[in-house]
Amino acid sequence: MGLLNSNKGTTVLTNKTVILGITGSIAAYKAADIASKLTQAGAKVEVVMTDSATRFIAPLTLRSITGRPVVTDMFDLASQHTIEHIALGEAADIVVIAPATASLIAKVAAGIADDMVTLTVLATKAPIILAPAMNVNMFENPITQENLAKLKARGFTIVDPAYGRLASGKMGRGRLADIDKIIGTIKQVLGRSGDLAGKRLVVTAGGTREPIDPVRHIGNRSSGKMGYAMAEAARDRGASVTLITAPTSLPEPVGMEVVHIETAAQMKDAVARAVAQADALIMAAAVADYQPKSVAKAKIKKESPSLTLELVRTPDILTEVKGDFLKVGFAAESQDIVANAKQKLEKKKLDLIVANDITDADSGFGVDTNKVTLIDRKGKVEELPLLTKREVADRILDKVVAMLAKK
Ligand code: CTP
Repeated sequence: MGLLNSNKGTTVLTNKTVILGITGSIAAYKAADIASKLTQAGAKVEVVMTDSATRFIAPLTLRSITGRPVVTDMFDLASQHTIEHIALGEAADIVVIAPATASLIAKVAAGIADDMVTLTVLATKAPIILAPAMNVNMFENPITQENLAKLKARGFTIVDPAYGRLASGKMGRGRLADIDKIIGTIKQVLGRSGDLAGKRLVVTAGGTREPIDPVRHIGNRSSGKMGYAMAEAARDRGASVTLITAPTSLPEPVGMEVVHIETAAQMKDAVARAVAQADALIMAAAVADYQPKSVAKAKIKKESPSLTLELVRTPDILTEVKGDFLKVGFAAESQDIVANAKQKLEKKKLDLIVANDITDADSGFGVDTNKVTLIDRKGKVEELPLLTKREVADRILDKVVAMLAKK
């Protein structure tokens, strides 16, 4: 307990010093959104801007969002301010340059520091993330690609630009990556020294779909939120994560391997592949227990007054998957919660089971909160209060960390 993310409301960003460097690209205005999201998540955001960046977005905007002074090239580089800023670079937990222009990338690759942003990058020992944004030809130019490859080899993390409409009106790769992708990458890099660093976790999420015919399936009400929160929490604590997900309406998480499946049988195969060398498997998915015995090749027409579907059992993934890793299961129960969950723990030979009461409106399907009881192999029962799914995820991971330490 008392671990990095275990307190209510704290995240991997809380109290972290993030230097946000902004360079002169049309995408510079998007840096305001990044600064806002980081500040809201509890980070201390120190903004550094090149002179040309200040032509695209006013330093006052960033100052208002972060509540901190903004350093710009408008100051004399030889002034006291520069020296203070090098000290800030040393205090930084992470440096993020977004947007990063071709010119910034070229200068950093060549070791040139002639503006406040390059100065910060070269003076810091903190991890550095670059989110390039530029014209497609500039991005695809072999010189830019060589510079990026060089920086990657030196440990920089590059958030690749997205494909889309560029300021020039052309379509191509060069647009600043999605803000959520940039924030997710920041969390992932900060989490590298977390208490799950070096561990491999496989997480399943969502409700499987069992096809009836080409247009219909049997599904369930799982939203995938608990599993996605588990995967993101594990990533933020330094784990390498494989998320195996049934279809959901959630955005694809970054900083992990994501495997998309539909049926229980596909999930079983994906889990079997992913658990090689895993330290833990967390089965948050709502796996269908039954599937149609046969799938109609053509759409079933409404010809007869009634229709009977014959269902057969799906594989029980948790029971069948073999290997030397921790197994964490979930039990969605509507009655005798602890007793039923304990039975599942025994039957499926789990290390931990997370039981939730699906009759409670704030808990379980579709909502962002969950009220669960954790039961371990020794029979220890811990009833948690109503928490966000992310908080529940961190409490489960606290247990996983403790169990892995004993293995
Ligand atoms: N599970 C699984 N494979 C299945 C069904 C469930 O691996 N075919 C996993 C779930 O992901 C969950 C745990 O087993 O972690 C318990 O799932 P649940 O459906 O509650 O339990 P069942 O064993 O299916 O029992 P029942 O439906 O009778 O309550």
